[in-house]
Amino acid sequence: METIVKGMDGIEEAATIIQRGGLVAFPTETVYGLGGNALDPDASRKIYAAKGRPSDNPLIVHVSCIEEVEPLVSAFPKEARLLMETFWPGPLTIILPKAEIVPHETTGGLDTVALRCPENRLTLRFIKASGVPIAGPSANTSGKPSPTEAEHVLHDLSGKIDMILDDGPVGIGVESTIIDLSGDTPTLLRPGAVTLEELSETLGREVVVDPAIIAGGVSEGVHPKAPGMKYRHYAPNAKMALVTTKLLKDKDYVVTEEERRIADEKVAACIRTMVEEDIAKGLRVGVICCAETVARYQAKVHGSDVDIRVIGSRQKPLSMTHELFRILREFDMDGVDQIYAESYSDRGVGFALMNRMRKAAGMTELLAD
Ligand code: TXA
Ligand code: MG
Repeated sequence: METIVKGMDGIEEAATIIQRGGLVAFPTETVYGLGGNALDPDASRKIYAAKGRPSDNPLIVHVSCIEEVEPLVSAFPKEARLLMETFWPGPLTIILPKAEIVPHETTGGLDTVALRCPENRLTLRFIKASGVPIAGPSANTSGKPSPTEAEHVLHDLSGKIDMILDDGPVGIGVESTIIDLSGDTPTLLRPGAVTLEELSETLGREVVVDPAIIAGGVSEGVHPKAPGMKYRHYAPNAKMALVTTKLLKDKDYVVTEEERRIADEKVAACIRTMVEEDIAKGLRVGVICCAETVARYQAKVHGSDVDIRVIGSRQKPLSMTHELFRILREFDMDGVDQIYAESYSDRGVGFALMNRMRKAAGMTELLAD
């Protein structure tokens, strides 16, 4: 049975477990990770087994400072160093060609390695104390929403890991941005809290977006470069539908106040109708809306079988990323059958939010008009 330790007290024990080849779940600023010694093929195998994850889906290798990257890579381009200096510790993962010592078990058979230095005091000390880089995917059962609290880790992985370092709820709530710098063209493989705009600005050149994330998922002929993006991910048990309007989509949500008001009501009216039909069929329904629109639902949808959740404020996408996975997990616990959610802008951090919402919705986006 795993031990759960709050705060700094568990660090020594956690480091010992890692050195002996065991698994420790750890907090980061994005989501909780499931850690093992990244240089030990057996530890990586254990991670895949605990998560029930396909072993061709590579793990992210966590370090506690830039100096620890050198031995893990066979090339260290200037641009990678610049991004590390600018954004580390922080929610940015960088793909580089791997050095011999990083086993293929950790990289899912690839010759590249994903590197990340998380911004969490406890975890930075845990990595240092372990004396090895820490392989760490998100600490959820493969395919489920990533864990944003120690409680979620326990729910998914209890009995399969040795220890959980508990640092309370995470700050960001969606996984790190991934940029591939192993080739000639910097490529965004997964949007996160470090935005596409910030990356291009820092590098002074365009960062290409992997077509698989623009499509929102994997359609035929589009093969994602981050193998993880090809799996159905972040998925609640319930079906989920995202609702928007033509105008909002066409203008990427940059509309006048009047246009916004009309669009909000179209989306709300469409969702209300579907909610009522589902309730009549005896289904349990969840609604995800924002602080700016909640009144359009609360006042007008009734019944004990509908659960209306405010994900945050549209003005602050980080308030929304923080809540998304928690809400999806709570809907699962409550046995919700169908979720309806509003769509939001893809700008800035919104790109990360919408990417996860689209994946949870299995790529379906409904037009209210
Ligand atoms: O925020 C995060 O990144 C969290 C915390 C724990 O650090 N970790 C995380 O790991 O989200 P995971 O394993 O759930 O997602 C890693 C993603 C997968 O989609 C995987 O395919 C991709 O990174 N990836 C890892 N190594 C790669 C590589 N060498 N080339 C391309 N994609 C890679
Ligand atoms: Mg994951």
